[in-house]
Amino acid sequence: MSFPAPFLARVEALLPPAEREPFLHWCTAPLPKSFRLTQRAAYAAPPAAWHAQQTLLPRTHLLPRPATAAEKVRLGNTLEHFSGEVYSATLSSLLDVYALGDIRGWKVLDLCAAPGSKTTLLSQMVGPEGLVVANEPSSSRLQKLASNIERLGCQNVILTQWNGAKLRQYTESEFDLVLVDAPCSSEGHGRKDSSFFSQMWSERSILTAARLQQQLIEEALLALRVGGILHYSTCTTAPEENECIVAGLLARYPGAVTVLPPHLPAGLPHAKGVTQWQGQGIPPEVSEHYTRLYPHLRSEMWDSECFGMITLQKTAPTTSRAEKQTSLHPPQLLKKQEKARIITQLYKRFGIPKEALRPYSLLQTPQGVWLTTALGAGFLRRSIVNRPGMPLLDANNHLTHSAAMALGALATAQLYPLTDAQYGRWLQGYDLLDVALPWPDSSEVLVHYRGRCVGLGRVMEGGKKLKNKLPRTLTLAQPVTYEGDS
Ligand SMILES: C[S@@+](CC[C@H](N)C(=O)[O-])C[C@H]1O[C@@H](n2cnc3c(N)ncnc32)[C@H](O)[C@@H]1O
Repeated sequence: MSFPAPFLARVEALLPPAEREPFLHWCTAPLPKSFRLTQRAAYAAPPAAWHAQQTLLPRTHLLPRPATAAEKVRLGNTLEHFSGEVYSATLSSLLDVYALGDIRGWKVLDLCAAPGSKTTLLSQMVGPEGLVVANEPSSSRLQKLASNIERLGCQNVILTQWNGAKLRQYTESEFDLVLVDAPCSSEGHGRKDSSFFSQMWSERSILTAARLQQQLIEEALLALRVGGILHYSTCTTAPEENECIVAGLLARYPGAVTVLPPHLPAGLPHAKGVTQWQGQGIPPEVSEHYTRLYPHLRSEMWDSECFGMITLQKTAPTTSRAEKQTSLHPPQLLKKQEKARIITQLYKRFGIPKEALRPYSLLQTPQGVWLTTALGAGFLRRSIVNRPGMPLLDANNHLTHSAAMALGALATAQLYPLTDAQYGRWLQGYDLLDVALPWPDSSEVLVHYRGRCVGLGRVMEGGKKLKNKLPRTLTLAQPVTYEGDS
């Protein structure tokens, strides 16, 4: 494996001699797949046939490297993945959120959110009283993020498409937590593509990333209420993108930022931050509390790429005096009676328990009815958003796929259970033909398989056909199919 000379010089400055060779070996060694069981998985352990190995993080597992192609677990094609019970993510990505401790009920901004590894875990951890505003400026990446929150049925996530470097134009002094998982020079990528260091790495990309990171961390600080938490991370080892960024923030806002110790799982192989870099001193509290993950620092229960993170607290007010862009047509919060009517309608149509919807706020836009949390409804009154919550009903008053995924497993009426033989073709997007459905044409049906809701169908041709309403982006070309006991 060849590495650029400036990279090797950096490794020499960062690591003691005995660690350099192991680091160079492991930073391009293929990263094993890891995944977490989400709150939708009612079981304590993944299917035994996956031979998954528990890690240091709660309900998070590593898949062993398969000896043969036949042994490979095609995670993205499984029923568990389709129904949002498992989410593939790197261990460092999940640690980034677990390191925050208890955040139930918090109002969170995930500033650089796509594809959503952290958004979806934040959503679970803040719970139905909390809110996650997930921001992503890139349209294509925002779509990927939307598809992941849809698959997991997240009911407390709002999507925005702001430029984080100009965040003060949209929001200020309002969040309990801002997570800045910054775009970076991405040395962590070396474990996904071993040609990364020889083909893509450059000192210039470090400096370009650092300039944007300085802006993002400062904007994040402004977006926090006093007492709020700023969590910053990158998947790279360059101190210019890690400790130096935090040192710069502390210097620009003296007295307004305190460094907090991270909540790390016992036994986590990691290093502390650098104490200086190329002549720039790093404040001792930053070096002490910066967590550095290197791929050669590993154990039976830990295997990760390059990563760095720190948790800060805003301790004094800040003001930007920036003029705010606010929404001219915010979604209308539905009145109590209208909300009750919709909840009753869904109970009567599908037997969806009324209690499942009562804690949420419902909103009306020309696209249909959306669901969000109480914190979300307050946020939407003035903010420009891309997607105000979970779509519940479309403009024609039909249940949406998101709502079916989030609530369909609780339904007791209008259910069509697929057979093992039908399941594979359903996930490929085919309609069901030659069936005998007991409902009138145009009825909506929740399609179930092995205790999960796997989408919506519409009855057609006098009950002989069930039209498949799976969004095309969610269909699977080669789903893993099942036979026998469920
Ligand atoms: C490291 S990735 C985020 C990964 C994500 N947090 C996750 O866990 O799935 C960084 C993201 O920042 C986004 N980004 C780039 N420029 C940005 C900006 N000016 N403001 C906010 N986000 C930005 C990138 O498009 C990219 O999706």
